[in-house]
Amino acid sequence: LYVIHIAAEMAPVAKVGGLGDVVSGLGKALQRKQHLVEVILPKYDCMQYDRIQSLKALDVVVQSYFDGQLFKNKVWSGIIEGLPVYFIEPLHPAKFFWRGQFYGEHDDFKRFSYFSRAALEFLLQAGKKPDIIHCHDWQTAFVAPLYWDIYTPKGLNSARIAFTCHNFEYQGTTPTSELTSCGLDVHQLNRPDRMQDNLSQHLVNSVKGGIVFSNIVTTVSPTYAQEVRTPEGGRGLHITLNAHSRKFFGILNGIDNEAWDPARDAFLRFQYNANDLHGKAENKDALRKQLKLSSIDANMPLVGCITRLVPQKGVHLIRHAIYRTLELGGQFLLLGSSPVPNIEREFEGIASNFRNHPHIRMILKYDEILSHSIYAASDMFIVPSLFEPCGLTQMIAMRYGSIPIARKTGGLNDSVFDVDDDMVPLQFRNGFTFLTPDEKGVNSALDRAISYYKKNPEWWQHLVQKAMNVDFSWDSSASQYEDLYENSVSRARAANL
Ligand code: ADP
Ligand code: GLC
Repeated sequence: LYVIHIAAEMAPVAKVGGLGDVVSGLGKALQRKQHLVEVILPKYDCMQYDRIQSLKALDVVVQSYFDGQLFKNKVWSGIIEGLPVYFIEPLHPAKFFWRGQFYGEHDDFKRFSYFSRAALEFLLQAGKKPDIIHCHDWQTAFVAPLYWDIYTPKGLNSARIAFTCHNFEYQGTTPTSELTSCGLDVHQLNRPDRMQDNLSQHLVNSVKGGIVFSNIVTTVSPTYAQEVRTPEGGRGLHITLNAHSRKFFGILNGIDNEAWDPARDAFLRFQYNANDLHGKAENKDALRKQLKLSSIDANMPLVGCITRLVPQKGVHLIRHAIYRTLELGGQFLLLGSSPVPNIEREFEGIASNFRNHPHIRMILKYDEILSHSIYAASDMFIVPSLFEPCGLTQMIAMRYGSIPIARKTGGLNDSVFDVDDDMVPLQFRNGFTFLTPDEKGVNSALDRAISYYKKNPEWWQHLVQKAMNVDFSWDSSASQYEDLYENSVSRARAANL
């Protein structure tokens, strides 16, 4: 198959969170299965250009429509982790992708609806005929209605559209008038069964457009796929998902085993594997020294947490876990970045209280290299999310032998199984879980983890080895996408015969 992903993020060059990991991880896994995979990204000024190979401007200049005019776009090609990527650089006076950040601009909706249209225009003008166009999240969900309304009539009609929603909290709602900016027909689309927002008639909803106009709709874990079909989880879109349930699937993400491999990780001082954990202990010692944490007691448990600090992630529970870990005689290491000013201020306050504390370090920024060291150095890894569509950090943590302490929700519920849960076969039990998102809930898992760690080092080491051997690679999830793609393509071919 010929598969083109159109997305706002791609690890490692343009990554804010898990979306970036998924676009490159799934893309690479599909490529390994002999499919032709390409990615289209905006050409952000703030990408990690040193990690793009063979970057060059193409000869084509793509013209695309916006706000009643045609604008030129330069298109670049390059290779990221072996995947061919095209970058769209709009020659538009608003300089949509010259903002020094990926998101968080007042005109985000315009930026990404412009990009979605320009990406399809590039496919049309370059004569590309993919079997599957796969778009992701609200930023590129617009591709689906654009394809239906504008590009199929123009002859770009070979493809089936797949849409993955990674988080139903972000739906891309905007005043109805914005539809016209990228040339969509408001009368056709502003209808309750099409793009009109289910909670406000005055808004259109980009994710809803992605659901209605795609042939395949997925989200990133089976449990979350069930949760979003309820009013609480779907935030208004449960109605649409239930109406389109036959094409809606939950597929658990994988992790990129090449990017996340303690035996080969160039960011680590000491490489290690499940059969020889010495390197893990050495990384712990080295990181404690680097961050000036007390290293007098090598056996003091080190709890790690790497996250965007947003309400979804259970920030009050993270704060509680820091204090509770101290009470229980452990150390805590938080690496977190927050786009929410009051959360950022709150954590800066806590961090400054603990500035020279021997057992707590809070590093409030995005830092990829440090993230690798924390996965490797920590003994446990806490993910107390209020909801979590999939969650990758718990899987990465396990691959590095850091045992997850996670709330039972979404993809956490599909990947972390409590060591004391008799309903789960012993060989699958790999962490500590709790259900109620409050302090008692956190304690019920964190206390047990620290107590097992202290009382039974041999048992713990066995648990670490078991967690490191769980297969979270993309292979099986990519096969599920492959099946969905292939079924959809063959149904379309049969219908056209
Ligand atoms: P989400 O996409 O909701 O943020 P995921 O668990 O799916 O959550 O993915 C988060 C990804 O971002 C992981 O690869 C994690 O290591 C990374 N990450 C999150 N916060 C930071 C940070 N402050 N510094 C470095 N990497 C981070
Ligand atoms: C979103 C979700 C996260 C998921 C990631 C990748 O950011 O919040 O749970 O793992 O997308 O699908």
